[in-house]
Amino acid sequence: MNFDANRPDLTVGVIGTGAMGRGIAQVAAAGGMNVLMTDSRPGAAQEARDFIDKMLSRAAEKGGMSKDAAVAAVSRIKIVGSPADMKPCHVVIEAIVENLDAKRQLFAELETIVAPDCILVTNTSSLSVTTVAAKLKTPQRFAGFHFFNPVPLMKLVEVIDGLQTENWVSEALMAIGRRMTREPVRCTDAPGFLVNQVGRGFTLEAAHLVHEGIASFVDVDRVMRDVGGFRMGPFELMELTGLDVTQPASELIYTQFFQEPRYRPNLIMRARYEAGVLGRKTKKGFYDYDAEMKPIAPAEPAPPAAYPGHVWVSPAEPHGHAVLSELLRKMGASIETGPKPSANALILVTPIGEDATTCAVEQELDPKRTVAVDTLFPMVKRRTIMCTPVTDHIYRNAAHGLLASDGVPVTVCRDSPGFIAQRIVAMIVNIGCSIAQSRTAQPPDIDKAVTLGLNYPNGPFKFGDVLGPQRVHKVLASMYRIYGDPRYRPNIWLTRRAKLGVSLLTPEP
Ligand code: NAI
Repeated sequence: MNFDANRPDLTVGVIGTGAMGRGIAQVAAAGGMNVLMTDSRPGAAQEARDFIDKMLSRAAEKGGMSKDAAVAAVSRIKIVGSPADMKPCHVVIEAIVENLDAKRQLFAELETIVAPDCILVTNTSSLSVTTVAAKLKTPQRFAGFHFFNPVPLMKLVEVIDGLQTENWVSEALMAIGRRMTREPVRCTDAPGFLVNQVGRGFTLEAAHLVHEGIASFVDVDRVMRDVGGFRMGPFELMELTGLDVTQPASELIYTQFFQEPRYRPNLIMRARYEAGVLGRKTKKGFYDYDAEMKPIAPAEPAPPAAYPGHVWVSPAEPHGHAVLSELLRKMGASIETGPKPSANALILVTPIGEDATTCAVEQELDPKRTVAVDTLFPMVKRRTIMCTPVTDHIYRNAAHGLLASDGVPVTVCRDSPGFIAQRIVAMIVNIGCSIAQSRTAQPPDIDKAVTLGLNYPNGPFKFGDVLGPQRVHKVLASMYRIYGDPRYRPNIWLTRRAKLGVSLLTPEP
């Protein structure tokens, strides 16, 4: 098909002018395209056009674009009465209610109106693109075009090939996305596409941790910000999005993947969803909110004024041993150098994917004196430690006091294979690898989508490379061994690269 995505008079139809439709119309008009828009609610399209006018005028005032360009963009947006008026469009983008029947009905109607080479696209966030297209006469010209909210600020758009989408359609959408000054990333249809699939690793593993009593939600957020380098903790993020969005999306992805354990939802999120305790929009969620809608977190507890006489660091993990010994030396701790700890020494272990209990038992150490320290992530802004169920509080306090003695906060969690950050990041990497394995998208594109769409410090593959693919594999393999839960089984795509000792971004010939 000879579709010219760069023709100056390209006309884009936008149906549904709510939060998403108006944003899509704005970036299309600002990108020089003509826009026809409509909404089933009377007055809604006009409200959207007024809103876009305000947004573009503000952008012009701030110097983001010229006044003339803003006026010209708004003048390119025309309101039409119904989908029947979309005949002149080269592309029609649907951003109506998230309901399969409503979307199918709309596209069935559009098929009878638009030209045979008009591209039809859905902005669905959770329905299968293939399923929405299934009853069309020409599913070949149908694709997903998944924008993020708020559209003018979020550069990413996922271009999704349904089962029957022809290449020219997706190529055209990539070009149109670029004309809209977006960063399009192409993928094939999959539950949660790229970004929402990877995002399950962050939020759901965090919920499982809290549900298991390993840490409070506040501690998980603190660790993921300070240790993992995320801008927001998983609970802060869930509350910003709202449990009314996150929970149904999580359950749908799990169902669409035929109950794949990696995407298993969690009861604590479900309970809040059921109770209508949704986060910022209900002014109550995991957090309470102050008058400025900032989440209220309890103050960080002061570290105990305790310090160990002697400390022995297990050599079982050479890297962790070296990193921790170096830190303790700088702090002036009295470090034992013998092959075994002396009778009263504090015992520190540095597990990768194991819990403190497993380390104590397998290394034949006294569990009452054993404390585990997470050394996989930089220990600069925060440190995480955990104890066995029988670690004496004197030794726990000594480890806490010692590791906080240079003013860096310490989070103490309950025994957990993989602490907090190790297991959450390992889940993100594992899901990323399963997306690559299924050829839904290429690793660099998945990383790009995740950093742009979720603001993570790294995409799954870069994260894996920074931590070391073998170490991430070990986190998962240890968790799988200790829990016996297939949720944690390392993906074979990751396993191969870890075995070979190569970067997760190594292109396949
Ligand atoms: P919204 O509720 O803000 O807007 C939907 C608009 O569509 C409303 O103005 C409504 O009157 C109109 N509408 C409903 N049924 C219609 C029909 N049959 N014909 C014409 N207009 C109709 O919803 P929002 O958030 O803009 O979402 C729209 C779509 O975009 C959904 O499929 C949603 O899943 C998807 N999406 C939403 C994101 C978000 O963060 N809000 C992100 C990415 C995708």
